[in-house]
Amino acid sequence: MYKIIKSIRGMHDYLPEELKLWNYIENIIKEVLNSYCYLEIRLPILEKTEIFQRAIGNVTDIIEKEMYSFEDRKGSNITLRPEGTIGCVRAIIQNNLLYKKKQKFWYFGPMFRYERPQKGRYRQFYQFGAEVFGIDGEDIDLEIILLTYRIWKRLGLENNIILEINSIGSQLDRIKYKKKLIFFLKKYEYLLDEDCKRRLYTNPLRILDSKNKDVQEILTKAPLLNEYLDTASQNHFQSLCKMMDIHGIPYRHNKYLVRGLDYYSSTVFEWKNFELGSQNTICAGGRYDSLFEELNTNKISGIGFAIGMERLVLLMQKLNIFFPTVREVDIYIIIIGNHNTFHATALSEEIRNLYPKLKIFIDFSDDNISKKIKHAANILAPIAIFIGDNEIKKKCFLVKDLVHKKQYYILKSDILIKINHFFKIIK
Ligand code: HAM
Repeated sequence: MYKIIKSIRGMHDYLPEELKLWNYIENIIKEVLNSYCYLEIRLPILEKTEIFQRAIGNVTDIIEKEMYSFEDRKGSNITLRPEGTIGCVRAIIQNNLLYKKKQKFWYFGPMFRYERPQKGRYRQFYQFGAEVFGIDGEDIDLEIILLTYRIWKRLGLENNIILEINSIGSQLDRIKYKKKLIFFLKKYEYLLDEDCKRRLYTNPLRILDSKNKDVQEILTKAPLLNEYLDTASQNHFQSLCKMMDIHGIPYRHNKYLVRGLDYYSSTVFEWKNFELGSQNTICAGGRYDSLFEELNTNKISGIGFAIGMERLVLLMQKLNIFFPTVREVDIYIIIIGNHNTFHATALSEEIRNLYPKLKIFIDFSDDNISKKIKHAANILAPIAIFIGDNEIKKKCFLVKDLVHKKQYYILKSDILIKINHFFKIIK
């Protein structure tokens, strides 16, 4: 017997039933983004490997071990995008969009990271991302926070997702701080786990968000990054916090929050739900005011966020949040006698010509009539139309109103008007 070929580990199929919730969430996020005048941008899934190496940072998890990189047929190094910010920045530069006064963008699509799969962590996952370019002040940080908070409110999640926020200052601030941190941690090196020992010399800031309780205990005595911030970063952050207070945004200043990508500076944040286990960050982002320069262009500031769709869906499911479902089928056509399929198709096409929004399902199966009616009722189709020899001969269809449990014959010439009448009544 042949072995069934399965999908690649960590890469899932998204089936229609689950996608009802996805579509509901996607529509709400799009509505909110539209209301803040963000424009959609679609970006390639493959980019040159070099761009990620330059921008994400060589000693980050993504670059060290998580990228799906390979050579194409001509030997160019390309990578399946692990995130969307860098591709978006590349597109803005390449297409000169900033000079066209276009500043705010959103994108949606799959990202790829070779991580160890577990609940909420996959090798292919979807992000809803937004990026804003060329605005320096903290007002845009606030707008991004308000926008994401509005999404949670629209989804009924505002009490389940908490904002953690911090400022990691400028690159210079971090260089000064890193020296102090390494000096401090060296005294405790023998107590650090293997991961932290390795990071001590490669990316010591990442030790700050270690999940190891012993390391966290050591860190309580460590110097804090915010003590090394320059005045501009401090003022920016304080002013942002004040504005969040005025707008009633609940948040926690997490002084250990540093983020896992090197392009950030100043404001960084994560929206978390602590019931989701270790993969509890639903949305993350921050400012990246040096990224454009790293990609060899003028200094242009940037800020953005990305929502992990799978984690958001998991949270909605876990909390059993009600969401309205869209009816799958409006009109269910039941054929009596296989030779009448032509008439069923012709009728369905006529209905679609007049009412393009109606969803018409023709049951082509060999099931008996009662099974077909049962199926129509199960999927909550409001009406079923029967097409058999008798109906065709008399030019008259049997229509079953499955909502009001009535049935009647309608002349073929009247059916299109009746359908309009019917769907106006029940909507
Ligand atoms: P990130 O923190 O790497 O940031 O990812 C953002 C979100 O994507 C995470 O909070 C999480 O919800 C989701 N996510 C990440 N990895 C996985 C995975 N393996 N499986 C499932 N979900 C995952 C970024 O990607 C930045 N580009 C965000 C950003 C935009 N910063 C500024 N602009």
